[in-house]
Amino acid sequence: MTLEFLNSPYKGMCTPQNRSSEDVALVETYVPSFPRREQCRVLILGSGNSPFGEDMMNDGWTGEIINVDFSPVVIDQMQRKYKKYEKEGNQMRMEFLCADINDGLPFSENSFDLIICKGVFDSILCSSGSVNHIKKFVAECDRVLASGHGCLFLVTHGSPDNRVVFLEHENDPTYFWEGIWIERIPKRNKTVSQ
Ligand SMILES: C[S@@+](CC[C@H](N)C(=O)[O-])C[C@H]1O[C@@H](n2cnc3c(N)ncnc32)[C@H](O)[C@@H]1O
Repeated sequence: MTLEFLNSPYKGMCTPQNRSSEDVALVETYVPSFPRREQCRVLILGSGNSPFGEDMMNDGWTGEIINVDFSPVVIDQMQRKYKKYEKEGNQMRMEFLCADINDGLPFSENSFDLIICKGVFDSILCSSGSVNHIKKFVAECDRVLASGHGCLFLVTHGSPDNRVVFLEHENDPTYFWEGIWIERIPKRNKTVSQ
């Protein structure tokens, strides 16, 4: 998928799907409780216009939350919408950054405890150069996650076989993720908030 294609719904100010509090509940169910929510540094990749980050903060995840998307349109919208969370010293802090994940993640090693990817793995796999990009994506997640306890929470429409293959390369430790846990999430009603 191209940036132009992915930008277009955001130009129409599409309404975010009102399901993110259910997704936050999933994180809380499946992600081990390290470190405590108020200290957990969270990176949300391909964040779009989802209120996921705000829902997490409202649920006590008040360590820093950074959202990344390559659509300047949606990043601009979200920066305006959530301006109040930008200030240094805020108890709840959240930032939005425009960056193309395919170019690598603009963070140093061990910067985050938890990475959330909902839908973006699928988007990248639908783009040209997908396999190389997804390998880089996985390697970059590994690099910026805290070694030892860092966790990648991946929500995808793909079947486990078609996704885990990118996380399990026995001969290459960069792509060998320990403790992969797969859950099938039942399909929800497609209601969209007005
Ligand atoms: C399917 S949407 C999911 C949005 C959001 N996570 C949600 O659950 O509603 C995928 C998002 O990934 C972003 N995206 C796709 N490819 C990207 C890339 N290479 N770098 C950064 N963001 C990307 C798109 O702009 C879009 O907002």
